[in-house]
Amino acid sequence: MSYEGDSRKVSAASAFEAAFGRPPTAVAWAPGRVNLIGEHTDYNEGLVLPAALERGIVVAAAGRDDGIVRALSDRYGGPVEVGRTLGAPRHLELPSWAAYVRAVAREVVGVAPSGPGADLWIGGDLPSAAGLSSSAALVVASALVLSETAGVENPAGDSIAFAQMVRLVEHRAGTLCGIMDPLVVLEGKRGCALRIDCRSIEISEVPLPPDLVVVVCDSGVERSLAQSAYNRRRDECEVARGALERLSGRPLRSLRDATRDDLATLARAFPGELYRRARHVVEENDRVDRLVDALWRNDRDAVGRLMAASHDSLRHDFEVSTPELDALVEDAQGAPGCWGTRMTGAGFGGCTVSLVDRDTAPAFMARMEESFRARYSRSPRPFSSSAGDGARLLQ
Ligand code: GLA
Repeated sequence: MSYEGDSRKVSAASAFEAAFGRPPTAVAWAPGRVNLIGEHTDYNEGLVLPAALERGIVVAAAGRDDGIVRALSDRYGGPVEVGRTLGAPRHLELPSWAAYVRAVAREVVGVAPSGPGADLWIGGDLPSAAGLSSSAALVVASALVLSETAGVENPAGDSIAFAQMVRLVEHRAGTLCGIMDPLVVLEGKRGCALRIDCRSIEISEVPLPPDLVVVVCDSGVERSLAQSAYNRRRDECEVARGALERLSGRPLRSLRDATRDDLATLARAFPGELYRRARHVVEENDRVDRLVDALWRNDRDAVGRLMAASHDSLRHDFEVSTPELDALVEDAQGAPGCWGTRMTGAGFGGCTVSLVDRDTAPAFMARMEESFRARYSRSPRPFSSSAGDGARLLQ
């Protein structure tokens, strides 16, 4: 057990005890994630290249025998009674973090009349609502402790089924997200990005050059419209797929199957938005394997070019960037020690990811902070991280 894991467990356990007056019986940790490339491709059955962060969410819990599930968070607030396994009042209005915990409790321990309850304490060092998958991390860590306190099978035994359950919880909360976030939160590997084929769910580890760190900068843009805008992009991809199927006269299971020739056909019939959405997906899939290759070859220029092309495509073709994200990318491009940079995650706000030489990361972050502050009078709260491990119960 690493010191890191131990210290997270120790502080979560003492916070739990201070709140509930007894020690927890389970503590779990789940990381946030950044995606290096392969954006808006997962729900098109395409390729992605995310990495788990060293920052994450920690949840401590102990069972209750009265069927009540209570949660308290130094990040979000509480204590909130998120539900009762004994006849949950379904109409109960909950803040979104507590609604996630309730949804997990339903999935993991059920709402059977004799179902066990639990007290949960939630902490961690991952910024929330910044596009770093804090909700997937919260759901995963909660599921791990709840299965432990309820004595049901650890869901991590089947990580694909576990990831599908997390995705279902997110869909119920209103975001029709893909499978990337829960998979990387569960399967992250220290020092590696994960190349995930979102059709076959085949996962391969791609070691990152050891002297490279990930730097995350938060644009601080309110992502309140992100959910509906995200779902709309999903619809647009489906419309593009249907149009291509009709135009080509052959079945097209997803945009993953569209070729360059298909794109040319689509450009003739629908030269505007529909064509640009499809072009992003087709070219972004292609860029994933080219970035994997560039990382294996330590080819700094290629990494920079591919990440820049991905950002441009998200900005102009998929239209999910913002002026703040563009400014962060512009500031990072060409900064000493920066291999490549782009927006990461769904967009409409959120963060950028930059791959930066480890020894220049502090100067890089200071520079990012200074230029963003000069433009927007606030800090992009940069932090650096190596690629980290996936979620686990802390022993
Ligand atoms: C969000 C979703 C993911 C993925 C990205 C965009 O993070 O949760 O499934 O679609 O956006 O790549």
